Amino acid sequence: MTMTSSDTANDPLLESIAELSTRPTKKLDHLPGDYGMPVFGNSFAILKNARAFNHRMQAKFGTVYRSSAFFSRVVVFADADAAQYALMDKEQNFSSSKGWFMLKHLLPGGILVRDFANHRKHRRPLQLAFKSQVMAAYGDRLNRLIQEGLEEWPTDKEFLFQDHIKSLLLDNAATVFLGAELGEESKKLNRAFVDLIGGIVIFMHRRIPGTKFDRAMRGSEYLKDWLHERIDERRSSSATDIFTSLCHLADDPENGMSAQDVVGHTLLILFAAHDTTTSTLSTMMSVMAEHPQWQEAVREEMLAVEGDSLSFQQVADLPVTDRVFRETLRCFPAVFMIPRRSIRAFEYQGHKIPANTLIHVGIDQIHRSEKYWTNPNQFDPDRWLPERAENKGHPFQWIPFGGGAHKCLGFKFADMQVKIFLFHLLRNYKIEAKKGKKFSIDLLPIPLPSDKLPVTMTRLR
Ligand code: HEM
Repeated sequence: MTMTSSDTANDPLLESIAELSTRPTKKLDHLPGDYGMPVFGNSFAILKNARAFNHRMQAKFGTVYRSSAFFSRVVVFADADAAQYALMDKEQNFSSSKGWFMLKHLLPGGILVRDFANHRKHRRPLQLAFKSQVMAAYGDRLNRLIQEGLEEWPTDKEFLFQDHIKSLLLDNAATVFLGAELGEESKKLNRAFVDLIGGIVIFMHRRIPGTKFDRAMRGSEYLKDWLHERIDERRSSSATDIFTSLCHLADDPENGMSAQDVVGHTLLILFAAHDTTTSTLSTMMSVMAEHPQWQEAVREEMLAVEGDSLSFQQVADLPVTDRVFRETLRCFPAVFMIPRRSIRAFEYQGHKIPANTLIHVGIDQIHRSEKYWTNPNQFDPDRWLPERAENKGHPFQWIPFGGGAHKCLGFKFADMQVKIFLFHLLRNYKIEAKKGKKFSIDLLPIPLPSDKLPVTMTRLR
């Protein structure tokens, strides 16, 4: 589904977005920066070490510079002021849908690929699917699923943490997001979903049989059909899953959501939640294996919780775990940069940015900047203690969940899911990596341990 004329009618902003050319502008020579090699731009340097490359560019050209990579020219916004300017977007200069153009075919109609009035109209009702009462019900389900899932993980022998967490989170998503039964049904949905996300970060979005993109389109079609077939039945269901919550929202004529919108939003939410949480739990486990004192501190806090499960209310009262979670997301933000496209020419800090410029808000650069953090490359959860409060310098110095109109809708869900997982894992098991192991995280396309994190789990009780 693309935006229809009724979505854009009489809205000059939406009309101007619809009129932008598909390819972003190349006319950026007047800005400081470096396009790198012909054709490939800076792609190889970025693939070799994105963080070091960004650091070099910023040192040479400042915090607003032009670059070129993966066949696009881009302007990077690399400090908290620039991030605030772009994400708060008071002057309405930036389109999210044209920034996230790679989602256009596979996740049409999702909330991230909507802008301005059209985005606000859909975001308001979607927020209801994340309000406290519903969150508490999702939390109950997550406790049961995670506890049962962990029972099946191997003990006393090495396994790849990343593969296991990915598959556990897919099972969680099939039931908590879609309300599917575990078993054959969830396996088919998981396969379709894995195919779908496999087709997003690739260059050729043309449907040729046998390609990744073709598999992704088939995955997307399977999921859409599955959702469409169930909308009517879910409208009268009292089940507590995200898809059913959205079906109820669509019943209210005030929300103006069609069946097609419900399907688009459900798929986008699945996508927005999955890789990000897989990345966060994998990097968090990696830092806790590297710094076992933090694993111990989180375990102690979890053991002090009364009861056999962690409720949505209890999640808010885990200060040590919260510091480790925040620090992990500072060091390894699951969304490395946020893309936007300028919908008109504007000037920022003396730089003239043309219309149709691809902008990258450099989250990782901001999170690793000495301007806001002492020893930014050090993993130090205590920087979040109230007496140090390093996070209080600038409202946009820690933005793993973005900011402004498109700020992550699921950040409380992610926070709850991560903490429920750690509750069941660390109360019952010790998790260790081989002695002398080197810990390393690949940053792109999303931060993940380079070796999928081989670990051994030992039962504690
Ligand atoms: C640690 C895990 C997560 C991280 C780091 C994360 C990060 C982000 C970021 C940076 C954005 C803003 C994108 C932009 O402005 O272009 C975003 C948007 C979004 N996220 Fe998350 N996310 C996480 C988990 C989740 C979960 C679990 C859900 C749903 C259950 C979710 C749903 C969404 C949605 C629907 C949006 C789009 C909001 C809009 O366009 O209005 N996210 N997320």
